[in-house]
Amino acid sequence: MSEGDTLAAVDPAALDGIDPNRIPVHVGCVMDGNGRWATKRGLPRNEGHRAGEEALFDVVEGALALGIPWLTVYAFSTENWRRPPDEVRFLLNVISDSVLMRRRQELHERGVRIRIAGRRDWRVPKRVLRRMDDACELTKDNRRMTFTIAFNYGGRAEIVDAVRALVRERVAPNKIDERAIRRHLYWPDMPDLDLVVRTSGEYRISNFLLWELAYSELIFTDTLWPDFRRDNLYAAVREYQRRDRRFGALGEQDGDQDGERD
Ligand code: FPP
Repeated sequence: MSEGDTLAAVDPAALDGIDPNRIPVHVGCVMDGNGRWATKRGLPRNEGHRAGEEALFDVVEGALALGIPWLTVYAFSTENWRRPPDEVRFLLNVISDSVLMRRRQELHERGVRIRIAGRRDWRVPKRVLRRMDDACELTKDNRRMTFTIAFNYGGRAEIVDAVRALVRERVAPNKIDERAIRRHLYWPDMPDLDLVVRTSGEYRISNFLLWELAYSELIFTDTLWPDFRRDNLYAAVREYQRRDRRFGALGEQDGDQDGERD
């Protein structure tokens, strides 16, 4: 999609077979494989990130069509600073020029609330922080979908930050429970993840929303992120709807009598 394009329209037939009453409330995407996508085509890795942006906005459109109220994507991890400086700079520019500038008005008009989850540390350029604040402020009253960009994000860092906040508040050890920790996560109102999709054939979580994914359904696909489209999201949701979610209880109809945690 080039500058100025609007998010493309949806073919309702593509949603066939999806139960509208069992749409996952919160979907997370680990957008992996941009570098390999580019290398396979003899292109610089950064072209993979550029193509990844296009894939992302097709997925956002698909999520809106499905009525998914929370979508969180892993855009830049606390470990990604270890990449070559040129790639780090490029990634920061893609993220800040794209969702935080070029596309923010359109997302706003479509009822999307933009949020950032991650550490605001000295490594994040002031200009990027300012754009983050502006995009979040502009869209803060929207409720159709909350689109969270995990940026300078690490799941362990989020838990460490929550524990530090509790210690700072001098909360007594016997008052520290799951609810207390959740209240100190980056976004306490963010629901647990129902579904996490990771692309590119890697079977890892890589420090993504560790607290929030405790009971989520995980779907791994060989598709590289720049090739991932709304149809792949629909396929993931169909697969999710076939799963039997038990949250540690017994299965609904499968005679799961062994009492094991699942
Ligand atoms: C992992 O692929 C991907 C990333 C580190 C960045 C994800 C960023 C985007 C999709 C750009 C658009 C994002 C926004 C929020 C506008 P990789 O580079 O690790 O791929 P590889 O494993 O094949 O090397």
